[in-house]
Amino acid sequence: MNTIHWSVEKNVDNLDRYPQIVEAAQYLSDDQVVAFPTETVYGLGANAYSDKAVAQIFAAKGRPADNPLIVHIAEYQQLEKLVIEVSEQAKLLIKAFWPGPLTLIFPRKPGILSELVTAGLDTVAIRMPSHPIALALIRTSGLPIAAPSANRSGKPSPTTAQHVEQDLSGKIAGIVDGGAAGVGLESTVLDCTGQKPVILRPGDITKEEMEVVLSNKMSLASNVLGKSESPRAPGMKYKHYSPNAPLYLVDGESTWIQSLIKEKREQGVKVGVLASTETKIAYDADLVLDCGSRKNLAAVARQLYDNLRKFDQTGVDLIFAEVFPKSGVGVAIMNRLEKAAGHHWIFQKDQS
Ligand code: TXA
Ligand code: MG
Repeated sequence: MNTIHWSVEKNVDNLDRYPQIVEAAQYLSDDQVVAFPTETVYGLGANAYSDKAVAQIFAAKGRPADNPLIVHIAEYQQLEKLVIEVSEQAKLLIKAFWPGPLTLIFPRKPGILSELVTAGLDTVAIRMPSHPIALALIRTSGLPIAAPSANRSGKPSPTTAQHVEQDLSGKIAGIVDGGAAGVGLESTVLDCTGQKPVILRPGDITKEEMEVVLSNKMSLASNVLGKSESPRAPGMKYKHYSPNAPLYLVDGESTWIQSLIKEKREQGVKVGVLASTETKIAYDADLVLDCGSRKNLAAVARQLYDNLRKFDQTGVDLIFAEVFPKSGVGVAIMNRLEKAAGHHWIFQKDQS
């Protein structure tokens, strides 16, 4: 399949009538799959009503069929058609954070969406993205759009159209290239169908921000806390975001990290390091990537997946990743890094 590349400038007026958007939306209406930028990462979109369209998402990504998809909408009215009920808590969160990087789980109306989208669950995950291109594309297609991240299953989510091409070129109808995505990590996923809201996946909208809106404490799902292997978001059980080389989280001073690097390199191992701007000069390794300043975790989030992909391209044998503070978006950064590491840590205090 020849994958069409549509370049779109996100700040132009009247994106809904932009010829590239109109053409890409037509492909979606014709049950083809199209990748597009959102304010988190690039998504791989398909008509959420159509089995034929949604099946192509799973085929192109190599995604397990039991992992449900997020449905993307552009208008509040679309939500009412798809769900049985919008709880008071959900209404408050929608008012505060939509459009934006927050996915909410709702009880779904049966018989409306393709069953492939929800993978047999009686709930559906829905979000309204804030990226102007995503909104224009959804509005113009007139459809709810099922869209996982536009990577091959198991790879880091794509934050640029080039990442999508690396993974899916020839397997999908087209890519709308709107430049770099925003946040760089996937949306926060929140289940507020029960008494107490539970964060199934941390993201840019933080626990603290949502607690302010709900005046209610919420909890992190046990898998997010690293305590359980049976997560409530089915996707969280799969090994994700993995670079080809094994990745270890190293918790200690940079002089100690450098001693680990030296030891490995003396054994002939090619070592990559994911460092911060503040500490990168401390390392002598085969590839040292600067993921941004510890004082600007938003920048670290934006660059994380691109850096994980760079390690693959350079072909290092082993990656040491520094630990970032678990505050604000740092919770999401560390959640993704822990998954990339398969929860492998090395602590300085264990070795001294
Ligand atoms: O930022 C994002 O959310 C991106 C962009 C493209 O919107 N999308 C994304 O989709 O990250 P995906 O498929 O890579 O991740 C969706 C997550 C998975 O962990 C999945 O298991 C969970 O949401 N999920 C989907 N439907 C669910 C449901 N009904 N109940 C619980 N978890 C659900
Ligand atoms: Mg994904």
